[in-house]
Amino acid sequence: MRLILFGPPAVGKGTQAGFITQRYGIPQISTGDMLRAAIDKGLPLGLQAKKYMDSGGLVPDEVIIGLVKARVEQPDCEGGFLLDGFPRTIPQALAMEKAGIDVDVVVELWLDESELVKRTSGRRVHLSSGRTYNVIFNPPKTAGKDDITGEDLVQRVDDQPETARKRLEVYRLHASALTEHYLDWAASADPRAPKYVRIAGAGPIQEVRDRLFDVLGPARPQRQAQSARLA
Ligand code: AP5
Repeated sequence: MRLILFGPPAVGKGTQAGFITQRYGIPQISTGDMLRAAIDKGLPLGLQAKKYMDSGGLVPDEVIIGLVKARVEQPDCEGGFLLDGFPRTIPQALAMEKAGIDVDVVVELWLDESELVKRTSGRRVHLSSGRTYNVIFNPPKTAGKDDITGEDLVQRVDDQPETARKRLEVYRLHASALTEHYLDWAASADPRAPKYVRIAGAGPIQEVRDRLFDVLGPARPQRQAQSARLA
């Protein structure tokens, strides 16, 4: 399965990506996580991206496109992948299509703005693993600590109220053009066109997960067989 998980900041893409990748045996390609890892390691890519991310803006298309193209060529993407946070602009979507990176389905997660604000302000992350918690909706077992490593959780710089508002504005600026692009394509006769589905991101995490699983269907049998062999 190859899919794009699309939606506003803090709608729950990363949280749901964890369930989907586990069920379908595919890697998650999160451009946000890749950029944060590059910042953490002090790589030139991270230095270049940081100023855009900290201000709530988008990292330039050419940087992101190169990053994703290189990632999907890795052997673990042969059986499919989940794109989380990419494409975010029309040039990114077109570059992906030109490079022959096809997907089966584009899933848009949506949520009211007031809920997005609550999810953003309560988010805490374990930086090295990307594990995400929420002080209200999904608290860690011990306040402020990662469940697995016991290390400190932090609030992302771009989750500060002002920057979070800017990120939402930037999302809105590009989202309707992207939605229109995928809806038009899905309605065309092009056999390469992905399906487009819209799923409500409201409600408990497991309910959203089940809505997504209903739409995406059962895990592929050959993947299950492969996991059984590996077990
Ligand atoms: P990125 O990291 O991709 O940020 P985002 O898209 O804004 O998404 P978030 O990570 O904020 O949220 P999410 O939807 O994954 O929600 P989560 O699961 O964490 O990008 C960051 C920056 O990198 C961008 O601003 C940009 O600068 C740059 N960038 C990245 N990709 C780029 C691209 N393609 N082009 C250009 N620039 C790019 O959940 C949020 C919170 O809610 C958590 O606390 C969670 O526990 C909680 N939660 C989740 N689900 C539920 C639920 N059902 N009920 C209650 N709480 C829930």
